[in-house]
Order: sequence, then structure tokens, then C-alpha cells
Amino acid sequence: MPNFPYNPPPELAALQVPRNDTVLLERGFKIAAILCKECHRSDRDDGGKMSGSLRTDLPTMFGKVASLNITHDPIHGIGAWTDGKLYYFLRTGIRKDDTWAPPFMPKFAAIADNDVKAIIAWLRSDDPDLASSNREYPPNKWNFLVKFLTNTAFTAPSLPQAPIVVPDSTQPSGLGAVFGRRFVWLLPVPFRRPYQIG
Ligand code: HEC
Repeated sequence: MPNFPYNPPPELAALQVPRNDTVLLERGFKIAAILCKECHRSDRDDGGKMSGSLRTDLPTMFGKVASLNITHDPIHGIGAWTDGKLYYFLRTGIRKDDTWAPPFMPKFAAIADNDVKAIIAWLRSDDPDLASSNREYPPNKWNFLVKFLTNTAFTAPSLPQAPIVVPDSTQPSGLGAVFGRRFVWLLPVPFRRPYQIG
């Protein structure tokens, strides 16, 4: 498996996501319910904790792939990871030992900075699904096809070059922002309303 250099900028390596920001946490819980829980919930008798499952939804040509333990356990889970390491991993898939998670673990390269922080706030939270568990599938062994594709087709996304902010709902967004308010009339009628302000 090719490695990618673990190379976060210093300010990211030192990142500290607030632990008690209720707005951030609430958003993190919502994102996790949509984006993380289904893949990371245990498929064994582990009280539904996030200790990993065999991914049976993947085409068999990729071999046996398991999602890993992301509970608070410092050895089997991610309890010992820093916020900076989590941030870098969620964006790029690169771990501190330069190993890279292939596309079976999605990379969140383009979501808002605040949403990555919200996910980290959730990962640190007292959600019972994240309570320490020492169960984990053995590390994934990537077969020839996955290695081949990682050398050719797959690659680690880079960190965003500029801050990504959540769109401000009081401002024109989507196509409205692209076309500008003055040119909204160029859009077919059914598409105008959501982008028109006033
Ligand atoms: C489509 C299934 C899937 C989804 C959705 C998913 N993951 Fe994963 N995740 C995986 C797999 C598979 C791995 C193992 C990759 C590997 O072996 O390198 C993994 C690995 C990880 C790891 C690394 C664990 C370690 O010990 O190296 C973390 C952290 C993680 N996921 C967090 C998340 C979070 C947070 C979310 C939601 C924002 C999420 N994952 C969504 C499948 C998924």
C-alpha cells in the first residue's frame, strides 16, 4: 500500500476543538447520524457501539474490508488521537504513521471547516455509542486490486487551500450566488425563487 506523508501545518497539528460548545456538538451528532454511524457501528454483540463492522456492501473484488473501532478506547479506538490528527485524517485519509485509508473510508475534503470540527466534537462526546470498546476487526489487508488502484486511480485529497465556511443563509446562495442577484432572471422560473432575496 503506498504511503502518503502525514504533513499537517503546525496550526492544524495544534488544533483544539471545544468540548462543550452545544451548537457544535448538536451539529456533530446530526452529521454522525447521517455520515458515520451506519458504517462504524459494530455488527457483533457490542451494544451497538462504534467498534466497527465488516463491510458487506462492497463489491467482493475488493476483498474483506472492515470499518475500524472509533470509540474512546485509547488502544483499539481513537481515544489517543489528537484533534489535529483526526482533522487531518477526516480531510485526507492520512494517518500519523503515513498509512492511508482507501476510498472505503470517505474523505471529507470539501465540507466546511466547522463541520469537520463538529464531527470531532462528536467523536469526543459522551455519546454512549462511543463508549470505550476493545473489540476490533484485525487491520484490513488490501488485496492486489486495491493496491493497484491506489497506485493509479485513487489518491489522498489535499487540504483545502482556503477556509471553507458554511453558507450564510441570509445571503444569496447556490446558483443565486453564482449568477448574482441581478441575473437570477436568467434561470428558468422554477429555479428562481429560492435564490431571490426580496
Ligand atoms: C462507507 C463506510 C464508512 C463511512 C460512511 C465512514 N467510515 Fe470511517 N472508516 C471506514 C473504513 C472501511 C475504515 C478503515 C480504513 C482502513 O483500514 O484504513 C474507516 C476508518 C476510519 C477511521 C480510522 C480509524 C483508525 O484506527 O485508523 C476513523 C477515525 C474514521 N473512520 C472515522 C469516521 C467518521 C468520523 C465518519 C463520519 C464522518 C466515518 N468514519 C464514516 C468506513 C467508513
